[in-house]
Amino acid sequence: MPDKLYAPKGVPEYLPPDSAVFRAVHEALAAPAVAAGYGYAELAVFEDTSLFVRGVGESTDVVSKEMYTLTDRGGRSLTLRPEGTAGVIRSVIEHGLDRGQLPVKLWYAGPFFRAERPQHGRYRQLQQFGVEAIGSDDPALDAEVITIADDGYRSLGLTGFRLEVTSLGCAVCRPPYRELLVAFLAGLDLDEETRLRAALNPLRVLDDKRPEVRAQLADAPLIIDHLCADCAAHFTEVRGLLDATGVQHVVNPRMVRGLDYYTRTTFEFVHDGLGAQSGIGGGGRYDGLMAELGGQELSGIGFGLGVDRTFLACQAEGLTPGPQRALDAYVVPLGEARLRAAVLATELRRAGIRTDLAYGGRGLKGAMKGADRSGAAFAIVIGERDLVAGVAQVKSMDTGEQTAIPLDDLSSHLIRQLKELHP
Ligand code: HAM
Repeated sequence: MPDKLYAPKGVPEYLPPDSAVFRAVHEALAAPAVAAGYGYAELAVFEDTSLFVRGVGESTDVVSKEMYTLTDRGGRSLTLRPEGTAGVIRSVIEHGLDRGQLPVKLWYAGPFFRAERPQHGRYRQLQQFGVEAIGSDDPALDAEVITIADDGYRSLGLTGFRLEVTSLGCAVCRPPYRELLVAFLAGLDLDEETRLRAALNPLRVLDDKRPEVRAQLADAPLIIDHLCADCAAHFTEVRGLLDATGVQHVVNPRMVRGLDYYTRTTFEFVHDGLGAQSGIGGGGRYDGLMAELGGQELSGIGFGLGVDRTFLACQAEGLTPGPQRALDAYVVPLGEARLRAAVLATELRRAGIRTDLAYGGRGLKGAMKGADRSGAAFAIVIGERDLVAGVAQVKSMDTGEQTAIPLDDLSSHLIRQLKELHP
């Protein structure tokens, strides 16, 4: 026997009935972005490797350890996108969107790839829903982006998460702060690898999870205490706007994002029901990224929400967003009514009623079992005698009640009944 085949390690797949919840999560997260005027972007899934090296940063785990990189037949180095922001900026520059109305507001969704050690909520093929707003440094835009994410989660019914925000400063206040931090780190007892990391990006050391390192970092200087006046005012305005629209948040001055492009406002949504992989979404400003990638000096802000982790968060909170039934009607033909029943199923579908049909000439008992398993609200039984009378037997799968309904009235009857069931 040939070997059984499996999906690669760390690749979650979503099949019915879970996939309905997965799609509902996607749609719920996208709705507030659409309502705020973000346009959809369908983007490259692989890019030139240099885009991520330049855009995301060599000191990050994402670039240094986790990229799926391949050489194509033309000898080019390509990488499966580990994140979305660098690709969006590349595309905006390439297609000249930055020369039109600003800010450019885009949303995107799909798979991203990181060669991480797989565990619950940490995958190698991960799904994100993201937005990017490019070309304005108005604090109202920061508040808009953060609120879109918060509204998306809340519209799913999620409550067990918190929003953490901070400011990472700018090209004015970051360099002197960096010097302070480098001087502080120089006085610590760190291993060689950590010292190298500190040389590349000292901020990243603040994210060290090892207790012996953490203990040494207790008194480390934090950028939030060293912001320039502009960054401090910007952060105060963002927080004020969040307060004004009821978006609860806490300041986490020790937040370290996994990507190097962040400046000023940065944020993370953390869910308590997911164990170690608690970050359900995150984002922030990246005011130098566009220039770094060869475009104009435009600022930007965005987020990536983990759809897999949001799905897990819904599970953890007992939420099943999306249609509560997969089907409205299940047509059960008996004997010679088979062909008429197939036509009827098409007619019902065209009337907007989600309909399946018992195929293969099963007997009444087997077909009714199929109706039961299908999860449909109604079974529509149609036999030879019904055909002659021009009716179908409509059986409510919830109450067992059965009524003969004229075929001509069937779709309007079902639509009325379904409205009563799911107003
Ligand atoms: P990120 O924080 O690296 O940001 O990823 C965003 C979200 O994707 C995380 O909060 C998490 O929910 C999910 N995620 C990341 N890695 C995994 C994984 N291995 N398995 C499952 N879920 C994962 C970004 O990617 C930025 N591009 C976000 C952004 C957009 N910043 C500005 N604009």
